[in-house]
Amino acid sequence: MQAPRGLEGVIVASTELTKIDGQAGRLVYRGYDVTELAGVVPYEAVAHLLWFRQLPTKEQLARLGNQLSSNRQLPIVVTEFLEQAARVAEPLSLLQTSISILGGLEATKSASTTDASIALTARMPTILATGYRIRSNQKPLEPKAGLGHVANYLYMLTGREPKPENVRALDAYFTLLADHGLGASTFVARVAASTLTDVYSAVVAAISALKGPLHGGAPIFVWEMLQSIGKPENARDWLTDHLAKGDRIMGFGHRVYRTEDPRSKVLKRLAKEIVEPGLFDLAVTVEAEARELLKKQHPERTIDTNVEFYSSLVLHAVGVPPELFTCTFASARSVGWTAHIIEQRQDNRLFRPEAEYKGRLDLKVQEPTINTLT
Ligand code: ACO
Repeated sequence: MQAPRGLEGVIVASTELTKIDGQAGRLVYRGYDVTELAGVVPYEAVAHLLWFRQLPTKEQLARLGNQLSSNRQLPIVVTEFLEQAARVAEPLSLLQTSISILGGLEATKSASTTDASIALTARMPTILATGYRIRSNQKPLEPKAGLGHVANYLYMLTGREPKPENVRALDAYFTLLADHGLGASTFVARVAASTLTDVYSAVVAAISALKGPLHGGAPIFVWEMLQSIGKPENARDWLTDHLAKGDRIMGFGHRVYRTEDPRSKVLKRLAKEIVEPGLFDLAVTVEAEARELLKKQHPERTIDTNVEFYSSLVLHAVGVPPELFTCTFASARSVGWTAHIIEQRQDNRLFRPEAEYKGRLDLKVQEPTINTLT
């Protein structure tokens, strides 16, 4: 029996973390609709929900907030690596290598999987902001105690106390991106975790999968597309040419959703509140034109906006530079990846599927071939 290409529709694990209803356009974390969590409870509370199975009490939230806050500092060896590499390597590789180094350092300690998950999540924004500031010739900043996870990320990037509306928008973004079932990167994390490797290594593997433009690498291309289109009246011709060349429109389409991605709806609403009106109007026009052209090209399937389309606008508006768009996705998703790693470990069996061999079975090594090796 052969599985469908891309494992579409195949169930490979059970989970209590996230349910996606692709027909209805609904995303649920442990029973809560994500649209009722985003911007309503802080990201730290969503992290608590995913890691510890329930939304926290005030005391539990304060405890987790303190634990995240006290783990933000980077070991000196990671800072030194960033000083050496930040100007020459691209940000997602810096993040990946920094996490590898952290994993190497932590391997000698005996932290629980959950404590390691919290420490890793806490340090991701520090890695991103430190690398970014070195690359842009600014002095890296110390994390600021008293600021929440998301507010501190914005502070460390920009050097300013962030505006409350920007913190609210980015916090909602972090919640919306916190988990999404077995997307390619989370599947990779679970496969790695099934070997009983450490949390850091499993997250490094997940980041490798996230990098690709068919997954988390899309928002920078959405941003570049909007810049290239420039004004609403150019949208139709630009998109028509693009599709005629056989290229995909970034920020559109999804394996699971057959209707609008529910995260996209929330992000569009947030974008309307914080993005400059000209840019927002351009995005709305591009969305409408692309939807119509894609409908003509693919009448058999709905290709609508996915999470990446309006993400790029929201991230830009709050002050995240385009080069950090995918890294910021990784930072938000660290909670989901690690929650899946924890869940995989609770009822583990090594992932080991098979491939259907399509090669020949009847070849023989010829004498002259062997002789040429000597
Ligand atoms: N633009 C143009 N055509 C598209 C798009 C798109 N954005 N998405 C799908 N299609 C077309 C494909 O060309 C294909 O056509 P064909 O059958 O004539 O070859 C058909 O729809 C099916 O495409 P698949 O790649 O098989 O569909 P899949 O379910 O694997 O696609 C994916 C999902 C990879 C996200 C796809 O929609 C895509 O490439 N989108 C653009 C990249 C993007 O936005 N990625 C971010 C996804 S969200 C996330 O991962 C966080």
